[in-house]
Amino acid sequence: MIKFKLHNNWTDDFIKIKSSLRVVQMVGATRSKLRFYHNIRVSMYVSIIGSSLGMTEKQLRYLGLAGFMHDIGFVAINDCILDKPAGLLPGEYQLIKSHPQIGMQILDLMRLPDDVIKAVTQHHECYNGEGYPLGLKGERISLYGRILFLAETFDAMTNDMPYRDACTIDAAMSFIKNMSGKRFDPVLVDIVLNSEEISAFYYGKDRISSDSLFILSNLSR
Ligand SMILES: [Fe+2]
Repeated sequence: MIKFKLHNNWTDDFIKIKSSLRVVQMVGATRSKLRFYHNIRVSMYVSIIGSSLGMTEKQLRYLGLAGFMHDIGFVAINDCILDKPAGLLPGEYQLIKSHPQIGMQILDLMRLPDDVIKAVTQHHECYNGEGYPLGLKGERISLYGRILFLAETFDAMTNDMPYRDACTIDAAMSFIKNMSGKRFDPVLVDIVLNSEEISAFYYGKDRISSDSLFILSNLSR
């Protein structure tokens, strides 16, 4: 049974950014339900992984927030490009690849904690150094960033996206296993492959997404 304690505890130090969160929520939900629910699910997956690592409540709040905001840089990119089913032109692909840095600038303006900003900036960096925007390698990528990339990939693979149909959880897990030490941190891969909570969330994700939406709505009042 997945609990929502993490989201409900977004109080105190996040009170000052509630209005900003509300804007993100409204813009996200208005522009694309698909991407909006993706953000919520990623927020839950990173929280599960962070809990498995024994993170503190504060760390989990930051991580959950980074999960929710990770693709906020997409607000600067036209939906025609984001929702293109296939065949992105090189220029369009470069534009997509700019979203972590656009996200960094937005979150910096919102004065979010450095750990959250760094995670969003680094959520497409690969463990072997072949990611973007900076090509950081191994533990030079923040732990939050490494968690985010893994969670984001898992969720994107297991749900319909404009450019690809959902694959099975087994296929996604197999891909993640093959990418251990390449795209992903091997320690985190082991956690995901052996996590009953990840599987439980995956199988209940459609119901849980709407529950989380309700929680986020209350949060931003
Ligand atoms: Fe992204």
